[in-house]
Amino acid sequence: MMKRIKVKNLLSNPELGSDVLVKGWVRTKRGNKNIIFVALNDGSTINNIQVVVEVASFDENLLKEISTGACIGVTGKLIESQGQGQHIEISAATIEIYGKSDAETYPLQKKGHSMEFLRENAHLRFRTNTFGAVFRIRHAMAFAIHKYFNDKGFIYLHTPIITGSDCEGAGEMFHVTTMDLKNMPRTADGSVDYNNDFFGKETNLTVSGQLEGELGALSLGDIYTFGPTFRAENSNTPRHLAEFWMIEPEMAFYDLTDNMDLAEDFVKYLIRYALDNCIEDLEFLNNMIDKALLERLKFVVDNEFVRITYTEAVSILTSSGKQWEYQVDWGRDLQAEHERYLVEEHFKRPVILTDYPKEIKAFYMKQNDDGKTVRAMDVLFPGIGEIIGGSQREEQYDRLLSRIKELKLQEKDFWWYLDTRRFGSAPHSGFGLGFERLILFVTGMANIRDVIPFPRTPKNAEF
Ligand code: 4AD
Ligand code: MG
Repeated sequence: MMKRIKVKNLLSNPELGSDVLVKGWVRTKRGNKNIIFVALNDGSTINNIQVVVEVASFDENLLKEISTGACIGVTGKLIESQGQGQHIEISAATIEIYGKSDAETYPLQKKGHSMEFLRENAHLRFRTNTFGAVFRIRHAMAFAIHKYFNDKGFIYLHTPIITGSDCEGAGEMFHVTTMDLKNMPRTADGSVDYNNDFFGKETNLTVSGQLEGELGALSLGDIYTFGPTFRAENSNTPRHLAEFWMIEPEMAFYDLTDNMDLAEDFVKYLIRYALDNCIEDLEFLNNMIDKALLERLKFVVDNEFVRITYTEAVSILTSSGKQWEYQVDWGRDLQAEHERYLVEEHFKRPVILTDYPKEIKAFYMKQNDDGKTVRAMDVLFPGIGEIIGGSQREEQYDRLLSRIKELKLQEKDFWWYLDTRRFGSAPHSGFGLGFERLILFVTGMANIRDVIPFPRTPKNAEF
Protein backbone atom coordinates (compact mmCIF):
# COMPACT_ATOMS: atom_id res chain seq x y z
CA MET A 1 0.00 0.00 0.00
CA MET A 2 1.23 3.41 -0.95
CA LYS A 3 1.38 5.97 1.85
CA ARG A 4 -0.78 9.06 1.52
CA ILE A 5 1.04 12.37 1.10
CA LYS A 6 -0.49 15.69 2.10
CA VAL A 7 -0.85 18.22 -0.70
CA LYS A 8 1.18 20.78 1.23
CA ASN A 9 4.17 18.41 1.38
CA LEU A 10 3.69 17.37 -2.20
CA LEU A 11 3.83 20.95 -3.44
CA SER A 12 6.69 22.07 -1.24
CA ASN A 13 8.96 19.23 -2.23
CA PRO A 14 7.77 17.67 -5.48
CA GLU A 15 9.61 14.65 -6.81
CA LEU A 16 8.73 14.62 -10.47
CA GLY A 17 8.14 11.15 -11.85
CA SER A 18 7.33 9.58 -8.49
CA ASP A 19 4.11 7.71 -7.75
CA VAL A 20 1.96 9.37 -5.12
CA LEU A 21 -1.32 8.89 -3.28
CA VAL A 22 -3.40 11.93 -2.34
CA LYS A 23 -6.78 12.11 -0.64
CA GLY A 24 -9.08 15.09 -0.48
CA TRP A 25 -12.25 16.89 -1.56
CA VAL A 26 -13.07 17.88 -5.11
CA ARG A 27 -13.17 21.63 -5.49
CA THR A 28 -13.85 21.75 -9.22
CA LYS A 29 -14.07 19.37 -12.13
CA ARG A 30 -13.83 20.45 -15.75
CA GLY A 31 -12.75 18.98 -19.06
CA ASN A 32 -14.06 17.37 -22.23
CA LYS A 33 -14.83 13.91 -23.49
CA ASN A 34 -11.19 12.89 -23.56
CA ILE A 35 -9.71 14.44 -20.46
CA ILE A 36 -10.90 15.68 -17.08
CA PHE A 37 -9.14 18.07 -14.70
CA VAL A 38 -9.97 17.80 -11.02
CA ALA A 39 -8.84 20.39 -8.46
CA LEU A 40 -8.35 18.50 -5.22
CA ASN A 41 -7.90 20.10 -1.79
CA ASP A 42 -7.08 18.27 1.42
CA GLY A 43 -7.04 21.22 3.83
CA SER A 44 -3.29 21.12 4.42
CA THR A 45 -2.78 24.20 2.24
CA ILE A 46 -4.78 26.78 0.35
CA ASN A 47 -3.41 25.31 -2.88
CA ASN A 48 -5.14 22.53 -4.76
CA ILE A 49 -3.41 19.75 -6.61
CA GLN A 50 -4.60 19.23 -10.15
CA VAL A 51 -5.48 15.65 -11.07
CA VAL A 52 -5.51 14.83 -14.77
CA VAL A 53 -7.82 11.97 -15.76
CA GLU A 54 -7.75 10.24 -19.16
CA VAL A 55 -11.42 9.44 -19.69
CA ALA A 56 -10.68 6.34 -21.78
CA SER A 57 -8.77 4.68 -18.93
CA PHE A 58 -11.59 4.84 -16.37
CA ASP A 59 -15.04 3.47 -15.83
CA GLU A 60 -17.68 5.95 -16.94
CA ASN A 61 -19.77 5.54 -13.79
CA LEU A 62 -16.81 6.17 -11.54
CA LEU A 63 -16.00 9.39 -13.38
CA LYS A 64 -19.58 10.58 -12.87
CA GLU A 65 -19.15 10.26 -9.15
CA ILE A 66 -16.25 12.70 -9.12
CA SER A 67 -18.34 15.80 -8.53
CA THR A 68 -17.84 19.01 -6.54
CA GLY A 69 -17.67 18.21 -2.85
CA ALA A 70 -16.98 14.50 -3.29
CA CYS A 71 -14.14 12.92 -1.34
CA ILE A 72 -11.68 10.85 -3.36
CA GLY A 73 -8.30 9.16 -3.21
CA VAL A 74 -6.03 9.28 -6.23
CA THR A 75 -2.83 7.48 -7.10
CA GLY A 76 -0.74 8.51 -10.04
CA LYS A 77 2.48 9.93 -11.35
CA LEU A 78 3.63 13.40 -10.42
CA ILE A 79 4.37 15.25 -13.64
CA GLU A 80 5.14 18.73 -14.82
CA SER A 81 1.96 20.55 -15.74
CA GLN A 82 1.32 21.63 -19.29
CA GLY A 83 -1.43 24.02 -18.28
CA GLN A 84 -1.39 27.38 -16.60
CA GLY A 85 -1.84 28.03 -12.91
CA GLN A 86 0.17 25.14 -11.52
CA HIS A 87 3.66 23.70 -11.95
CA ILE A 88 2.85 20.10 -11.22
CA GLU A 89 -0.10 17.77 -11.48
CA ILE A 90 -0.95 14.15 -10.97
CA SER A 91 -1.62 11.92 -13.92
CA ALA A 92 -4.24 9.63 -12.38
CA ALA A 93 -3.68 5.85 -12.39
CA THR A 94 -6.41 4.82 -9.92
CA ILE A 95 -9.27 6.73 -8.35
CA GLU A 96 -11.27 5.65 -5.32
CA ILE A 97 -14.47 7.38 -4.28
CA TYR A 98 -14.77 7.67 -0.48
CA GLY A 99 -17.83 9.87 -0.33
CA LYS A 100 -20.08 10.91 -3.16
CA SER A 101 -21.59 14.39 -3.22
CA ASP A 102 -24.71 15.36 -5.07
CA ALA A 103 -23.64 18.31 -7.17
CA GLU A 104 -27.20 19.65 -7.35
CA THR A 105 -27.75 19.94 -3.61
CA TYR A 106 -24.17 20.51 -2.39
CA PRO A 107 -24.44 23.86 -0.58
CA LEU A 108 -21.06 25.18 -1.71
CA GLN A 109 -21.47 26.09 -5.35
CA LYS A 110 -18.79 27.67 -7.43
CA LYS A 111 -20.20 31.17 -7.15
CA GLY A 112 -19.08 33.31 -4.22
CA HIS A 113 -21.28 32.90 -1.16
CA SER A 114 -22.11 35.58 1.39
CA MET A 115 -20.51 35.31 4.82
CA GLU A 116 -23.98 35.01 6.31
CA PHE A 117 -24.76 32.01 4.09
CA LEU A 118 -21.47 30.38 5.05
CA ARG A 119 -22.21 30.98 8.74
CA GLU A 120 -25.46 29.09 8.31
CA ASN A 121 -23.40 26.34 6.72
CA ALA A 122 -20.58 26.44 9.22
CA HIS A 123 -20.37 22.65 9.11
CA LEU A 124 -19.09 22.90 5.53
CA ARG A 125 -17.45 26.32 5.42
CA PHE A 126 -14.00 24.92 6.29
CA ARG A 127 -14.03 23.68 2.69
CA THR A 128 -13.87 27.17 1.26
CA ASN A 129 -10.57 28.89 0.57
CA THR A 130 -11.37 31.73 2.96
CA PHE A 131 -12.25 29.57 5.95
CA GLY A 132 -9.45 27.12 5.26
CA ALA A 133 -7.07 30.08 5.45
CA VAL A 134 -8.68 31.54 8.57
CA PHE A 135 -8.58 28.30 10.53
CA ARG A 136 -5.05 27.39 9.50
CA ILE A 137 -4.00 30.83 10.73
CA ARG A 138 -6.02 30.40 13.93
CA HIS A 139 -4.14 27.17 14.58
CA ALA A 140 -0.78 28.81 13.88
CA MET A 141 -1.59 31.60 16.33
CA ALA A 142 -2.54 29.13 19.07
CA PHE A 143 0.71 27.29 18.53
CA ALA A 144 2.73 30.53 18.50
CA ILE A 145 1.13 31.63 21.79
CA HIS A 146 2.28 28.46 23.53
CA LYS A 147 5.70 28.75 21.91
CA TYR A 148 6.12 32.38 22.97
CA PHE A 149 5.36 31.70 26.61
CA ASN A 150 7.17 28.40 26.76
CA ASP A 151 10.33 30.03 25.36
CA LYS A 152 10.05 32.68 28.08
CA GLY A 153 9.65 30.16 30.89
CA PHE A 154 5.97 30.80 31.59
CA ILE A 155 3.87 27.98 32.98
CA TYR A 156 0.61 27.07 31.27
CA LEU A 157 -1.95 26.95 34.06
CA HIS A 158 -5.32 25.31 33.50
CA THR A 159 -7.77 27.47 35.41
CA PRO A 160 -11.29 26.16 36.01
CA ILE A 161 -14.17 26.69 33.63
CA ILE A 162 -16.79 26.32 36.35
CA THR A 163 -16.32 28.89 39.12
CA GLY A 164 -18.17 30.52 41.98
CA SER A 165 -16.78 34.00 41.35
CA ASP A 166 -17.35 36.82 38.90
CA CYS A 167 -13.86 38.09 38.12
CA GLU A 168 -14.91 41.14 36.14
CA GLY A 169 -17.83 41.96 38.45
CA ALA A 170 -20.08 42.69 35.51
CA GLY A 171 -22.64 40.00 36.37
CA GLU A 172 -22.69 38.67 32.83
CA MET A 173 -22.57 35.01 33.73
CA PHE A 174 -24.10 31.78 32.55
CA HIS A 175 -25.31 29.78 35.52
CA VAL A 176 -24.27 26.18 35.98
CA THR A 177 -26.77 23.98 37.77
CA THR A 178 -28.20 20.47 37.79
CA MET A 179 -31.34 21.56 39.60
CA ASP A 180 -34.75 21.20 38.00
CA LEU A 181 -35.46 24.62 36.54
CA LYS A 182 -39.20 24.02 36.79
CA ASN A 183 -38.97 23.27 40.46
CA MET A 184 -36.19 25.22 42.13
CA PRO A 185 -35.78 24.75 45.88
CA ARG A 186 -36.21 28.00 47.82
CA THR A 187 -34.91 29.22 51.15
CA ALA A 188 -37.20 30.77 53.75
CA ASP A 189 -36.75 34.24 52.21
CA GLY A 190 -37.72 32.98 48.76
CA SER A 191 -34.31 33.05 47.08
CA VAL A 192 -32.96 29.97 45.27
CA ASP A 193 -31.46 27.42 47.66
CA TYR A 194 -28.20 26.17 46.14
CA ASN A 195 -27.34 23.96 49.10
CA ASN A 196 -28.62 20.89 47.34
CA ASP A 197 -27.27 21.84 43.94
CA PHE A 198 -24.39 19.85 42.47
CA PHE A 199 -21.65 22.03 43.97
CA GLY A 200 -23.65 23.06 47.03
CA LYS A 201 -23.29 26.69 45.99
CA GLU A 202 -24.08 29.04 43.16
CA THR A 203 -21.73 28.50 40.21
CA ASN A 204 -21.23 29.85 36.71
CA LEU A 205 -19.09 29.51 33.60
CA THR A 206 -15.96 31.57 34.04
CA VAL A 207 -15.68 35.05 32.54
CA SER A 208 -11.91 35.03 33.07
CA GLY A 209 -9.21 32.80 34.54
CA GLN A 210 -7.38 35.76 36.04
CA LEU A 211 -8.13 35.37 39.74
CA GLU A 212 -6.92 31.77 39.76
CA GLY A 213 -4.07 32.83 37.47
CA GLU A 214 -2.92 35.31 40.11
CA LEU A 215 -2.77 32.50 42.67
CA GLY A 216 -0.46 30.66 40.28
CA ALA A 217 1.75 33.69 39.57
CA LEU A 218 2.23 34.33 43.28
CA SER A 219 3.94 30.94 43.56
CA LEU A 220 5.17 29.93 40.15
CA GLY A 221 6.30 33.39 38.99
CA ASP A 222 5.08 33.67 35.42
CA ILE A 223 1.99 31.80 34.26
CA TYR A 224 -0.51 32.03 31.43
CA THR A 225 -3.92 30.62 30.80
CA PHE A 226 -5.43 29.91 27.39
CA GLY A 227 -8.98 28.71 27.45
CA PRO A 228 -12.62 29.39 26.73
CA THR A 229 -14.42 32.13 28.62
CA PHE A 230 -18.10 32.95 28.66
CA ARG A 231 -20.01 36.19 28.82
CA ALA A 232 -23.76 36.50 28.82
CA GLU A 233 -23.61 40.07 27.57
CA ASN A 234 -26.32 40.80 25.07
CA SER A 235 -23.94 42.46 22.62
CA ASN A 236 -24.81 41.75 19.03
CA THR A 237 -21.72 43.27 17.47
CA PRO A 238 -19.05 42.05 15.06
CA ARG A 239 -16.59 42.08 18.03
CA HIS A 240 -18.46 40.12 20.72
CA LEU A 241 -19.02 36.43 21.32
CA ALA A 242 -20.77 34.74 24.24
CA GLU A 243 -18.05 32.07 24.19
CA PHE A 244 -14.56 33.26 23.30
CA TRP A 245 -11.01 32.20 24.00
CA MET A 246 -8.72 34.31 26.09
CA ILE A 247 -5.00 34.23 26.82
CA GLU A 248 -4.20 35.60 30.26
CA PRO A 249 -0.56 35.90 31.33
CA GLU A 250 0.05 36.85 34.95
CA MET A 251 3.51 37.85 36.19
CA ALA A 252 4.93 38.30 39.66
CA PHE A 253 7.14 41.39 40.10
CA TYR A 254 5.82 43.14 36.97
CA ASP A 255 4.64 46.73 37.22
CA LEU A 256 2.38 48.36 34.65
CA THR A 257 5.28 49.34 32.38
CA ASP A 258 6.63 45.77 32.37
CA ASN A 259 3.08 44.63 31.61
CA MET A 260 2.77 46.99 28.62
CA ASP A 261 6.20 45.94 27.35
CA LEU A 262 5.19 42.29 27.46
CA ALA A 263 1.81 42.91 25.80
CA GLU A 264 3.41 44.87 22.96
CA ASP A 265 6.20 42.34 22.43
CA PHE A 266 3.71 39.46 22.57
CA VAL A 267 1.28 40.71 19.92
CA LYS A 268 4.12 41.81 17.66
CA TYR A 269 5.65 38.35 17.99
CA LEU A 270 2.34 36.74 17.01
CA ILE A 271 1.85 38.94 13.97
CA ARG A 272 5.44 38.38 12.88
CA TYR A 273 4.89 34.64 13.33
CA ALA A 274 1.88 34.80 11.03
CA LEU A 275 3.85 36.75 8.41
CA ASP A 276 6.70 34.23 8.60
CA ASN A 277 4.60 31.06 8.67
CA CYS A 278 1.23 31.72 7.05
CA ILE A 279 2.12 33.89 4.08
CA GLU A 280 0.18 31.92 1.44
CA ASP A 281 -3.02 32.13 3.46
CA LEU A 282 -2.39 35.79 4.29
CA GLU A 283 -1.78 36.64 0.63
CA PHE A 284 -5.04 34.98 -0.27
CA LEU A 285 -6.92 36.98 2.39
CA ASN A 286 -5.12 40.12 1.31
CA ASN A 287 -6.37 39.60 -2.25
CA MET A 288 -9.88 38.45 -1.47
CA ILE A 289 -10.93 40.02 1.84
CA ASP A 290 -8.88 43.08 2.72
CA LYS A 291 -6.41 44.67 0.33
CA ALA A 292 -4.62 46.56 3.12
CA LEU A 293 -4.10 43.50 5.34
CA LEU A 294 -0.43 42.73 4.77
CA GLU A 295 0.54 46.37 4.88
CA ARG A 296 -1.30 46.82 8.18
CA LEU A 297 0.29 43.74 9.73
CA LYS A 298 3.77 44.90 8.77
CA PHE A 299 3.04 48.39 10.02
CA VAL A 300 2.05 47.15 13.46
CA VAL A 301 5.15 44.96 13.75
CA ASP A 302 7.44 47.83 12.73
CA ASN A 303 6.05 50.66 14.84
CA GLU A 304 5.94 51.44 18.52
CA PHE A 305 2.57 51.59 20.22
CA VAL A 306 1.54 54.97 21.61
CA ARG A 307 1.18 55.01 25.42
CA ILE A 308 -1.02 57.67 27.01
CA THR A 309 -3.29 57.95 30.01
CA TYR A 310 -7.06 57.84 29.89
CA THR A 311 -7.07 61.46 31.03
CA GLU A 312 -4.88 62.51 28.10
CA ALA A 313 -7.12 60.53 25.74
CA VAL A 314 -10.21 62.33 27.04
CA SER A 315 -8.66 65.70 26.37
CA ILE A 316 -7.67 64.66 22.83
CA LEU A 317 -11.22 63.48 22.20
CA THR A 318 -12.95 66.53 23.64
CA SER A 319 -10.73 68.92 21.68
CA SER A 320 -11.03 66.94 18.44
CA GLY A 321 -14.02 68.93 17.23
CA LYS A 322 -15.76 65.64 16.41
CA GLN A 323 -19.46 64.98 16.92
CA TRP A 324 -19.73 61.83 18.99
CA GLU A 325 -22.69 59.53 19.25
CA TYR A 326 -21.69 58.87 22.87
CA GLN A 327 -20.56 61.75 25.01
CA VAL A 328 -16.95 61.96 26.19
CA ASP A 329 -16.64 62.94 29.82
CA TRP A 330 -13.91 62.20 32.32
CA GLY A 331 -15.24 59.24 34.31
CA ARG A 332 -17.28 57.70 31.49
CA ASP A 333 -16.06 54.62 29.66
CA LEU A 334 -14.82 55.15 26.12
CA GLN A 335 -16.88 53.72 23.30
CA ALA A 336 -15.68 51.98 20.14
CA GLU A 337 -16.03 55.25 18.17
CA HIS A 338 -13.64 57.01 20.56
CA GLU A 339 -11.13 54.20 20.61
CA ARG A 340 -11.15 53.96 16.84
CA TYR A 341 -10.70 57.70 16.44
CA LEU A 342 -7.59 57.64 18.63
CA VAL A 343 -6.08 54.67 16.80
CA GLU A 344 -7.22 55.17 13.23
CA GLU A 345 -7.37 58.94 12.87
CA HIS A 346 -5.41 60.70 15.59
CA PHE A 347 -2.33 58.52 16.19
CA LYS A 348 -2.70 56.14 13.24
CA ARG A 349 -1.13 53.27 15.17
CA PRO A 350 -1.95 50.99 18.12
CA VAL A 351 -2.49 52.86 21.37
CA ILE A 352 -2.19 51.72 24.98
CA LEU A 353 -4.41 53.68 27.34
CA THR A 354 -3.58 53.57 31.04
CA ASP A 355 -4.81 54.85 34.39
CA TYR A 356 -8.56 54.71 33.95
CA PRO A 357 -11.07 55.98 36.52
CA LYS A 358 -11.53 53.27 39.12
CA GLU A 359 -15.34 53.34 38.78
CA ILE A 360 -15.25 51.89 35.26
CA LYS A 361 -12.71 49.15 36.00
CA ALA A 362 -12.71 45.93 37.99
CA PHE A 363 -12.11 45.68 41.75
CA TYR A 364 -8.70 44.01 41.55
CA MET A 365 -6.78 46.81 39.83
CA LYS A 366 -4.04 48.64 41.71
CA GLN A 367 -5.25 51.97 42.99
CA ASN A 368 -3.19 55.05 42.21
CA ASP A 369 -2.36 57.50 44.98
CA ASP A 370 -4.69 60.11 43.45
CA GLY A 371 -7.60 58.07 44.86
CA LYS A 372 -9.39 58.34 41.51
CA THR A 373 -7.61 56.16 38.97
CA VAL A 374 -6.29 52.62 38.74
CA ARG A 375 -3.27 51.09 37.01
CA ALA A 376 -5.28 49.69 34.11
CA MET A 377 -4.17 49.31 30.51
CA ASP A 378 -6.21 48.71 27.38
CA VAL A 379 -4.45 48.01 24.10
CA LEU A 380 -6.42 49.44 21.18
CA PHE A 381 -5.95 48.22 17.60
CA PRO A 382 -6.95 49.60 14.22
CA GLY A 383 -10.23 48.13 12.99
CA ILE A 384 -10.72 46.24 16.25
CA GLY A 385 -10.74 48.62 19.17
CA GLU A 386 -9.83 46.91 22.45
CA ILE A 387 -7.78 43.79 21.80
CA ILE A 388 -6.15 43.51 25.26
CA GLY A 389 -7.32 44.55 28.72
CA GLY A 390 -5.04 44.31 31.75
CA SER A 391 -3.64 45.99 34.82
CA GLN A 392 -1.21 45.97 37.66
CA ARG A 393 -3.04 44.24 40.51
CA GLU A 394 -3.78 45.63 43.96
CA GLU A 395 -1.32 43.70 46.08
CA GLN A 396 -2.04 45.48 49.39
CA TYR A 397 -4.49 43.61 51.59
CA ASP A 398 -6.18 46.64 53.16
CA ARG A 399 -6.72 48.51 49.93
CA LEU A 400 -8.03 45.42 48.16
CA LEU A 401 -10.43 44.59 50.97
CA SER A 402 -11.77 48.14 51.14
CA ARG A 403 -12.41 48.09 47.39
CA ILE A 404 -14.25 44.76 47.70
CA LYS A 405 -16.42 46.25 50.41
CA GLU A 406 -16.98 49.52 48.53
CA LEU A 407 -18.30 47.55 45.59
CA LYS A 408 -20.51 45.44 47.87
CA LEU A 409 -18.83 42.23 46.75
CA GLN A 410 -18.96 39.31 49.17
CA GLU A 411 -15.71 39.20 51.14
CA LYS A 412 -16.24 35.50 51.90
CA ASP A 413 -16.28 34.66 48.18
CA PHE A 414 -12.76 36.00 47.87
CA TRP A 415 -11.10 34.55 51.00
CA TRP A 416 -8.57 32.60 48.95
CA TYR A 417 -7.78 35.61 46.77
CA LEU A 418 -7.31 37.84 49.79
CA ASP A 419 -5.10 35.20 51.43
CA THR A 420 -2.40 35.76 48.79
CA ARG A 421 -2.26 39.39 49.98
CA ARG A 422 -1.85 38.24 53.56
CA PHE A 423 0.88 35.68 52.98
CA GLY A 424 3.81 36.88 50.89
CA SER A 425 2.03 39.32 48.63
CA ALA A 426 4.03 40.77 45.75
CA PRO A 427 3.60 43.41 43.09
CA HIS A 428 2.20 41.67 40.04
CA SER A 429 0.44 42.36 36.76
CA GLY A 430 -1.29 40.63 33.90
CA PHE A 431 -3.56 41.04 30.94
CA GLY A 432 -6.08 39.25 28.78
CA LEU A 433 -5.81 39.00 25.00
CA GLY A 434 -9.07 38.16 23.23
CA PHE A 435 -8.02 35.35 20.90
CA GLU A 436 -10.75 35.95 18.33
CA ARG A 437 -10.01 39.68 18.25
CA LEU A 438 -6.40 38.81 17.48
CA ILE A 439 -7.53 36.46 14.70
CA LEU A 440 -9.81 39.18 13.32
CA PHE A 441 -6.84 41.51 13.13
CA VAL A 442 -4.46 38.97 11.61
CA THR A 443 -6.90 37.68 8.98
CA GLY A 444 -8.62 40.96 8.07
CA MET A 445 -12.00 39.28 8.49
CA ALA A 446 -14.79 41.70 9.41
CA ASN A 447 -16.95 39.65 11.77
CA ILE A 448 -15.85 37.75 14.87
CA ARG A 449 -18.36 35.00 13.99
CA ASP A 450 -16.10 34.11 11.08
CA VAL A 451 -12.89 33.47 13.01
CA ILE A 452 -14.19 30.87 15.50
CA PRO A 453 -15.37 27.52 14.13
CA PHE A 454 -18.84 27.55 15.69
CA PRO A 455 -19.79 30.94 17.14
CA ARG A 456 -22.05 31.33 20.17
CA THR A 457 -23.93 34.62 20.11
CA PRO A 458 -27.32 35.76 21.40
CA LYS A 459 -30.01 33.45 19.98
CA ASN A 460 -27.45 31.31 18.21
CA ALA A 461 -25.89 28.06 19.37
CA GLU A 462 -26.17 25.93 16.23
CA PHE A 463 -23.76 23.06 15.60
O1 4AD B 1 -11.00 43.46 29.23
P1 4AD B 1 -11.45 42.11 29.70
O2 4AD B 1 -12.84 41.98 30.19
O3 4AD B 1 -10.38 41.70 30.82
C1 4AD B 1 -10.40 40.59 31.58
O4 4AD B 1 -11.18 39.67 31.49
C2 4AD B 1 -9.24 40.52 32.53
N1 4AD B 1 -9.55 39.51 33.56
C3 4AD B 1 -7.99 40.19 31.77
C4 4AD B 1 -6.77 40.12 32.65
O5 4AD B 1 -6.31 41.15 33.09
N2 4AD B 1 -6.26 38.93 32.90
O6 4AD B 1 -11.23 41.06 28.53
C5 4AD B 1 -9.97 40.87 27.95
C6 4AD B 1 -10.06 40.81 26.44
C7 4AD B 1 -10.63 42.06 25.79
O7 4AD B 1 -9.63 43.03 25.62
C8 4AD B 1 -11.13 41.52 24.47
O8 4AD B 1 -10.06 41.37 23.55
C9 4AD B 1 -11.61 40.14 24.86
O9 4AD B 1 -10.97 39.77 26.05
N3 4AD B 1 -13.07 40.11 25.06
C10 4AD B 1 -13.94 39.56 24.18
N4 4AD B 1 -13.75 38.96 23.00
C11 4AD B 1 -14.84 38.51 22.36
N5 4AD B 1 -16.10 38.59 22.84
C12 4AD B 1 -16.34 39.19 24.04
N6 4AD B 1 -17.58 39.24 24.51
C13 4AD B 1 -15.23 39.70 24.76
N7 4AD B 1 -15.08 40.32 25.95
C14 4AD B 1 -13.77 40.54 26.11
MG1 MG C 1 -11.75 45.31 28.90
